[in-house]
Amino acid sequence: MKKKVYIETYGCQMNVADSETVAGIMQSREYIATDNITDADVIIINTCSVRDNAEKKIWNRLDHIKSLKRKNKNLKTGIIGCMAQRVGEKFLEHPAVDFVAGPDSYRSLPDLVDENDIAPVRTEFDINETYSGIEQVKIDNNIISGFIAITRGCNNFCSYCIVPYTRGRERSLDYKDILTEVKNLREKGFKELTLLGQNVNSYYFEEGDKKVNFPNLLRMVAETAPEMRIRFTTSHPKDFSDELIETMAAYKNICNHIHLPVQSGSNKILEKMNRKYTREWYLNRIEAIRSAIPDCGISTDLFCGFSGESEEDFQQTLDLMEQVKFDLAFMFKYSVRPETYAAKHFDDDVPEEIKIDRLNRMIKLQNKISLENNKADIGKSFEVLVEGYSKRSKKMLFGRTEQNKVVIFPAQNYKAGDFVNVKIIDATSATLKSEIIN
Ligand code: SAH
Ligand code: SF4
Ligand code: F3S
Repeated sequence: MKKKVYIETYGCQMNVADSETVAGIMQSREYIATDNITDADVIIINTCSVRDNAEKKIWNRLDHIKSLKRKNKNLKTGIIGCMAQRVGEKFLEHPAVDFVAGPDSYRSLPDLVDENDIAPVRTEFDINETYSGIEQVKIDNNIISGFIAITRGCNNFCSYCIVPYTRGRERSLDYKDILTEVKNLREKGFKELTLLGQNVNSYYFEEGDKKVNFPNLLRMVAETAPEMRIRFTTSHPKDFSDELIETMAAYKNICNHIHLPVQSGSNKILEKMNRKYTREWYLNRIEAIRSAIPDCGISTDLFCGFSGESEEDFQQTLDLMEQVKFDLAFMFKYSVRPETYAAKHFDDDVPEEIKIDRLNRMIKLQNKISLENNKADIGKSFEVLVEGYSKRSKKMLFGRTEQNKVVIFPAQNYKAGDFVNVKIIDATSATLKSEIIN
């Protein structure tokens, strides 16, 4: 009888992809993945450390799992992911936790479960670990959209960010392994794939005379799966080259959507963040993208209240938002992360109530811009990849345009995985409403 493992995932898409790798590792041994937590012999929680509230969520979750363990004495719980790396063996002090593994230690998970004598904690970094040869196993029943992590780790050390400390140094996977995985997804009938990395466009792989940069790889991926939608995230502005823009423009199946986190509109703050670009560079990249790909969807990440951010600096962020008119923005307030350069050298000197006020002002402005952008789509036609039923009604389906905008439309006889042509008839700041055209 196979034992059952339940994997719960927090944080970014990289963690989603890693959970599939972990499912693959566990299934290659005596385990099978389950989506029912009360049925599980082993619970694995894949954690995030990016902001303090992401970590708070995990502690709360562990209190709940403690109660499950009271009912099932044989249940084992492991913590993996970024917070496992950061918190390490201190996790074992929590009564719900039996073992801990950081992002480079997942191959040892099946053994860790059974380890009773020595401290079951693995948090060593391994620059060579790319999980080559491990087949990812889908755990969310989504067989439409797949992820491939093409780089792991990050070398950028943005001064506020924990990721370089939780995921170690950047490494790029062998392009041949990536193309094999693309073929696998294609053969399994996936309709879309997303190439993942913390700084995906710094991908670089060298072997003898063969040198492969990100645009080269993207080209090979697009040609390997010509009928699949190809996406990639997250791009760093410093590496957003003209060659990359030209490659996107040259291939129909590379989606016209770019997630390009800007973080702040103030040069003073960008420098303090160690982002390695200026406001002017960023705006120049946006211009280059829009002139080569006029219908490109552009989204971003922004956060307010970083150390030293004055009202004037913040105004420059609002001003940049107005100038670029992002389709979508993920917005946060600064949260000090232990160990980072900013935690050691800068004061967290923007008072909490000002952070909250600025965040609210950003959100309000972005909602207005998203609504304007979406209204401008009324009357236009798009191809939509159907993902499932809309939350509100089983009579409606939802999907995404290549620009990554969410569209709803009457279900008729369509189903998840179909491509449907629609015309936009109405819009809110979050969704486009449409009718089917044939
Ligand atoms: N690698 C990506 C994303 C990293 S984390 C990139 O370079 O953009 C996702 C987002 O969380 C970041 O883009 C940033 O906006 C936000 N973030 C990261 N650290 C943060 C912190 N300490 N406080 C608040 N927001 C943070
Ligand atoms: Fe963090 Fe910067 Fe790396 Fe993104 S690029 S993961 S924000 S250090
Ligand atoms: Fe969180 Fe780690 Fe991703 S900190 S955002 S899960 S890389």
